[in-house]
Amino acid sequence: MTFIIRKLIARMVADATARSEDAILPLLTPALKGKKNSLDLKLGLSVTSLNSDEEDGSRSKRPDFNVLNEKAMQIAKKITCPDHVQNISVEKGVLYFSLDPLYVIKQVIQDVSEQQGHYGYHPYPGNDGKLNIIVEYSSPNIAKPFHAGHLRSTLIGNFFANLQERLGHNVTRINYLGDWGTQFGILGVGFQDFGNEEKLRMNPIQHLYEVYVATNKAAQNDPTIWERAKDLFRRMEQGDSDALAMRHRFQNLSIADYKRTYQRLGVHFDEYCSESQYSSEAQNLINTLRDGNLLTTSKRGTGDINLSDVCPRFPIATLAKSDGSSLYLTRDIAAVLDRRKRHTFDDMYYVVDKGQEGHFEQLKGVLRKMDQDCFQRIHHIKFGKVLGMQSRKGTAVFLTDILDEARDRMLHNMTQTSTTKEQEDPERVAEILGVSAIILQDLKGSVITDYKFEWDRVLTSQGDTGVFLQYSHARLCSIEEMNSIPESSSHDDIDWNLLCEPEAVQLAWFISHYDVAVRRAALEREPKAVAQYLLQLGHLISRANNKLKVKGSPADVQRARLGLFRSARITLANGMKLLGMTPLTQM
Ligand code: ARG
Repeated sequence: MTFIIRKLIARMVADATARSEDAILPLLTPALKGKKNSLDLKLGLSVTSLNSDEEDGSRSKRPDFNVLNEKAMQIAKKITCPDHVQNISVEKGVLYFSLDPLYVIKQVIQDVSEQQGHYGYHPYPGNDGKLNIIVEYSSPNIAKPFHAGHLRSTLIGNFFANLQERLGHNVTRINYLGDWGTQFGILGVGFQDFGNEEKLRMNPIQHLYEVYVATNKAAQNDPTIWERAKDLFRRMEQGDSDALAMRHRFQNLSIADYKRTYQRLGVHFDEYCSESQYSSEAQNLINTLRDGNLLTTSKRGTGDINLSDVCPRFPIATLAKSDGSSLYLTRDIAAVLDRRKRHTFDDMYYVVDKGQEGHFEQLKGVLRKMDQDCFQRIHHIKFGKVLGMQSRKGTAVFLTDILDEARDRMLHNMTQTSTTKEQEDPERVAEILGVSAIILQDLKGSVITDYKFEWDRVLTSQGDTGVFLQYSHARLCSIEEMNSIPESSSHDDIDWNLLCEPEAVQLAWFISHYDVAVRRAALEREPKAVAQYLLQLGHLISRANNKLKVKGSPADVQRARLGLFRSARITLANGMKLLGMTPLTQM
């Protein structure tokens, strides 16, 4: 909302400075540490750049606050205060616009109730085109563990895809499975000895992993296993139909199994694709690059491409093994070319741990060498490690174990707390709470930093947790339910003067910043902008809940407070869904 207020102010400043409204709007932000009890928007731009007649060179000088103040004053003088701006002031070269709290409250509540699920996703000027965006995330390897890195990729990628979708873009969600390499040969050979059809049908991911581990172990005493595995994999590379049929079967069963688990997480994909799908294209690519003299043969016999001019940190990219077969990087390049053809993407985001930075730098480097302009539209969202994510069984090999454990621990906590309501379906509630807890823990810090996973901290309802957000949401729902005003009731008869307590004003003011947090998350590619916003919103809600009782208040006070709480509930739910949570109405 304050979007509308911000737009109005931006227009006034634009008129006073001969700059465009669109340029000013993004610079106008809420001053969170405003003077006590005043609601300020600040224009935090070095004022020199507001003066259209200023020489460009002067912008780079260190700001002299006296000069800045002087200029800001001049701008302030040119602006006639509209009714909803009570005061314009200048401090350290920054312009502050103090808004009329009643106007803010009224505007916020009206906007939220009009826009509901769309609240906060207003396109900014200049960003209102619909883009084709690909987000690739999760991307585990078949027959290998789904580790914490894959879980982070899944959660961050899902958030990012949700965000782009809400901002009005056309998003394709891709899961790129790792299913190529000798591991598949090992699996094929081992399945004959250690495989069990029944287990494969019931629990494909787990069973294939067990077979993989058992075969590797057996191979320590029986070197022929390696030979047979390599041979089988070679047959796959050459397109042998039996070998490929087996791989297909493992793959299809695994995908079905993954889908079940993703569903628990509230995650879905538009496309499942895999490395193996690009193995023959990758071979063609190697030939093309050799023909174009881009690929040179190294002393070891590998096919390399020199990237020292475009990617000095990772200067030598190997695209062919000494036996001529393709590598991870080669297949990824083939996949980019295919996606470019099928999706004509404007931007493609790979959500993959920071350990693969070199890989994606080289991917872009090679595309650049190939004169493929799309390299500029490829982005690697790199994230840090999760330390210590283990289930009771010890190692966290399977995502289902982590989700089961979160659910069971939550269920246990629920039975221990006397305030917990009788639930119709406690398992479902516990499952949603567990997932929310894991999501928030993952998204509340900067993506690039490592963090330590601690079950007890993650699952409590106190402090900055997903359970706390769910609790705040459920509490608002129950207040609305117990004191129902019809969803359709008009706001015209609400007396806004009744929301004069600082707790009400602060809450409304903060609700009005939701779009700022969303925009920041998009610009900085940081889910924490939204996660931290929601935590703070949760704290303001709880303060307001404690102070502004609905039950027992006069009817007009009830109406006003419920209007405010409903806006808070909708905003909280919007943000929680963006993070990938299912907001609970009861817990
Ligand atoms: N399967 C890979 C791994 O687990 C991640 C794939 C990332 N995506 C890609 N296009 N390379 O390490």
